[in-house]
Amino acid sequence: MDYKIEDLKEKGYLDINIDNTKDLVSEIKKLKEEKNAVILAHYYQTGDIQDIADYVGDSLKLAQEAAKTNADMIMFAGVHFMAETAKILSPDKKVLLPDLEAGCSLADSAPYKDFKKFKEQYPNHIVVSYVNTTAEIKTLTDIVCTSTNAKYIIDSIPEDKGIIFAPDKNLGNYLNSITGRNMILWDGACHVHKEFSLERILALKKENPDAMILAHPECEKPVLLIADHIGSTSSLLNFTKDKKYNKFIVATESGIIHQMNKENPHKTYIPAPPNDSTCACNDCEFMKLNNLKKIYIALKYELPEVVLEQEIIEKAAGSINRMLEISAKNNL
Ligand code: 13P
Ligand code: SF4
Repeated sequence: MDYKIEDLKEKGYLDINIDNTKDLVSEIKKLKEEKNAVILAHYYQTGDIQDIADYVGDSLKLAQEAAKTNADMIMFAGVHFMAETAKILSPDKKVLLPDLEAGCSLADSAPYKDFKKFKEQYPNHIVVSYVNTTAEIKTLTDIVCTSTNAKYIIDSIPEDKGIIFAPDKNLGNYLNSITGRNMILWDGACHVHKEFSLERILALKKENPDAMILAHPECEKPVLLIADHIGSTSSLLNFTKDKKYNKFIVATESGIIHQMNKENPHKTYIPAPPNDSTCACNDCEFMKLNNLKKIYIALKYELPEVVLEQEIIEKAAGSINRMLEISAKNNL
């Protein structure tokens, strides 16, 4: 059944019934070609979404792809701040997010008004913000960073300059420790990464002494202290390719294990468990709001679209472009 856009907006596009016999994968491929759309998917998406994407990657790679794509439409299989970043980098393109409710607890931990007041206390400081922030926060930011390029971004700032780092205090503390800086940190965190249980990871390590512990720098310090390798999703994935190691305890969102399995199916990947003893792994419920049905509907009806005011796009673009320039200089 076909719907009119007006009806969909009123009805709620997610309530649409679609024919169960539809082969969503081939329908999505057809729509993608028809509309000259590109599908960008983050490593935390489910495996079936990663498998239909044109590009799968970490936050930096997806921003770089969004900036250079020739497509007319970007379907962002990720969360809201990622789609906003794509819109800021490619303002003339239509940017779709399968579910507008796909937010981010870390981005939400830095509301605009509070952060503006915080920044005013340090008028001479440079503001470095993690890409996991709203577009509004990026308008208050000098340079955006991701976990792949954060060290390079911070090292590019003269040593005598004070820095405010937001919003992730775990990543900020980790960066202070590896750069020797004393950045002022906003007190935010990701609800997925701060929940990994040190005790349960140590118990897994006892059962699997040959397993390497991999941790994303959004994890709390005690987990980072026991990690054999700390890095962004792409860095963790690269580490698993090392021939020396065959077993890994993975302390980040479990979606990344799909790519690890694809790259090296004979190795063993154990998702690190959270404090809640009923779960074996820690999923981001925002990332997992997306599914193939929503992607199909979004491509077909070109909804929901991520729209930003022109003024916000212009103000936020500088901080993201500075990040892309420093990343290019460092071959990232
Ligand atoms: P990266 O993929 O850039 O490491 O980011 C992880 C993340 O938390 C995205 O929400
Ligand atoms: Fe945000 Fe954490 Fe989910 Fe990443 S995993 S999107 S930082 S809530």
